[in-house]
Amino acid sequence: MTQHWQALAARQADTAERPILSLFDDPGRAPAFSAQTGDMFFDYSKTNIDAETRAALIDLLEAADVEGKRAAMFSGAAINDTEGRAVLHTALRNLDGGPVFVDGFDVMPGVLATLERMRVYANHIRGSEITDVVNIGIGGSDLGPAMAVEALAPYHDGPRCHFVSNVDGAHISDTLRGLDAKTTLVIVASKTFTTIETMTNARTAKAWMQDHGGDPATQFAALSTAEEKTKAFGIPAESVFGFEDWVGGRYSMWGPIGLALMIAIGPKAFDAFLRGGQAMDQHFKAADWSENLPALLALVGIWHAQVCGHASRAVLPYDQRLARLPDYLQQLEMESNGKGVEMDGTPLTRPSGPVVWGAAGTNGQHAFYQLIHQGTRVVPCEFMIAAEGHEPELAHHHNLLIANCLAQSEALMRGRDIDAAREKMATAGFTGSELERQARHRVFAGNRPSTTLAYPKLDPFALGQIIALYEHRVFVEGVILGINSYDQWGVELGKELATSLQPVVEGRSDAADKDASTAQLVSFVRRHRGR
Ligand code: F6P
Repeated sequence: MTQHWQALAARQADTAERPILSLFDDPGRAPAFSAQTGDMFFDYSKTNIDAETRAALIDLLEAADVEGKRAAMFSGAAINDTEGRAVLHTALRNLDGGPVFVDGFDVMPGVLATLERMRVYANHIRGSEITDVVNIGIGGSDLGPAMAVEALAPYHDGPRCHFVSNVDGAHISDTLRGLDAKTTLVIVASKTFTTIETMTNARTAKAWMQDHGGDPATQFAALSTAEEKTKAFGIPAESVFGFEDWVGGRYSMWGPIGLALMIAIGPKAFDAFLRGGQAMDQHFKAADWSENLPALLALVGIWHAQVCGHASRAVLPYDQRLARLPDYLQQLEMESNGKGVEMDGTPLTRPSGPVVWGAAGTNGQHAFYQLIHQGTRVVPCEFMIAAEGHEPELAHHHNLLIANCLAQSEALMRGRDIDAAREKMATAGFTGSELERQARHRVFAGNRPSTTLAYPKLDPFALGQIIALYEHRVFVEGVILGINSYDQWGVELGKELATSLQPVVEGRSDAADKDASTAQLVSFVRRHRGR
């Protein structure tokens, strides 16, 4: 692989100063650097990737054997090798696909049977007295369904859905206040059923329900791989929806972890969401690399993060209902590809996956776009836009939204040079040194890369496509970096230390073995409690 990385470094050195805009001298630039599957359209022409660079990126991808690893993933091989697990979230949306084997056992009958049980349960809840559903979970057991319930609000015809994740008592307290315990369903979503935040919130919710006339025996459901633990918690088997350890937490919203979403939008719309994911799987498996959306998105990511050295990327959905997508992608991408060693344990020799952040447009424009346009750090931007919204009576809003989205990527690429800035200030009446000073503040370096993902409308199918697109992008980037995208050892140390600090905070033991900073913070908390 070394020579492939070197070839890319050479391409970067040769093209770094070239204006992206100049690439559009070629009238075929835009279509040649775009790809489409179904109605999902990806434009990466506003990057500095040209045909030679793209070929070098595809060489890198081929040298990393993405094809072989992709086949291994879909076939149920244990590619998560630090945990000895297959990675098969794709089986959860394999609605009419063939068998999928794990250790010689076809998992599809079980997947489809659980899905059917979820449908029956969701329909039962939707037709019952339940007015509110509270999903208690964190990380992958929260972010996916919470993001999707908001994204698909126009399809929401079931009970209201609330999401509690933080162990901060404020979260559950603010959520339960005003709910009727007699008409609330609590879903405890936890792959392991041991996560301290979730179990603490679940116990609090159970006590609240008991104290306020509800019946936890019939108004609690559990989503977990640890069915024994759900039983010990007191949730009857008919309200438990299990899944297998080959579904990673941050990849789990397609199965039982998506129950709140299914209750919100109904089984039919949930099926459409699964079909969108499945369609992206089929595209990922079949399309040539130069037409393959997940591969192209990954190659753009590798080019910007590992070759050009840009430390972060912004996800900018011009779609208010995708406001939580950046949060969701933070876990998906950073928990997956924020690793320090390769599969064999040797340290990475190039940067891991980048920092992922963002917000819905146009809100971000009035917050952090200043830095994106004029700051000294280059932040590759990933714009997203639907051709139409769900509010035909407000089409003029949507037109403005689209205009803003397109204007931002154009502005990032074009910039404004000093001559144009001087002219602007001269027109405004400035002269001499003040004109020069004012003009310099109005220069935009330009040449800042962005991509745009466009889709007809944010419906369940499109959302499924988008989420699966990003999942596979993470996979491809992980393979190229030679890392395990499916473990998350980096979250363990903090959890262990929190466990050891709990008795210290509670005053049951002292902070003698802690560093002086931690000890003084503990003593501050103790001094100021209960005042
Ligand atoms: O934060 C680590 C993590 O294990 C995530 O990977 C996971 O999504 C989250 O905690 C919640 O885990 P669980 O679903 O087991 O409660």
